[in-house]
Amino acid sequence: MNNLFNKIIRKRRSIFPIQFNGEIIDDSIINEIIFNANTAPTHKITQPWLFKIFNSLSKIKLADEILRLKFGNKIPKNEKENLIKKFNLTSHIICICLERSDEKLIPEWEEIAAVSMSVQNMWLTCTANNLGCYWSSPKIISELGAFLNLKNNQKCLGFFYIGKYNELPKRILNKKDVNEKVEWI
Ligand SMILES: Cc1cc2nc3c(=O)[nH]c(=O)nc-3n(C[C@H](O)[C@H](O)[C@H](O)COP(=O)(O)O)c2cc1C
Repeated sequence: MNNLFNKIIRKRRSIFPIQFNGEIIDDSIINEIIFNANTAPTHKITQPWLFKIFNSLSKIKLADEILRLKFGNKIPKNEKENLIKKFNLTSHIICICLERSDEKLIPEWEEIAAVSMSVQNMWLTCTANNLGCYWSSPKIISELGAFLNLKNNQKCLGFFYIGKYNELPKRILNKKDVNEKVEWI
């Protein structure tokens, strides 16, 4: 087995905005991340992903929209401060969207699976480049259609936060042992 490949897969983890350092990632790296996302496998080559990228200039618009959707015009001061802090620490936020093909052609679960594979490619590319990232799926993503200019056959499946980090604390997650997940037949 290729050791580098194993290392990257096993090093992949969620790194959250609060752990980012606020530095901005070069757009060329973001393009590389998206390029790799676009190589994911798809049934009938529908490539059902669509990415809406917010950078250091546009991310404030997304923060405003999230706050509006969550709280209307009565936004609690601490909620606003917390979200702005999170966004300031983040370099880019990619809205992960699904673009459905003809429903008779491919079931939705297959296209969601394909989008998820494209996200895994982004996640692994970030890991290989020592960038932090994670997939966030708050309830309000179902209401982002107008803001993101989504068509009827498109929907948002979450936000992919990407940022640089300095050092990470060690973390132990209680993940099940692989032997609980497999049956050799
Ligand atoms: C489809 C999907 C949606 C997720 N949504 C959230 C979320 O809304 N909030 C969150 O804290 N983590 C979210 N995560 C990240 C998981 O919490 C994280 O992957 C899990 O805790 C395992 O940690 P690891 O990624 O470090 O292995 C999501 C992950 C996936 C795959």
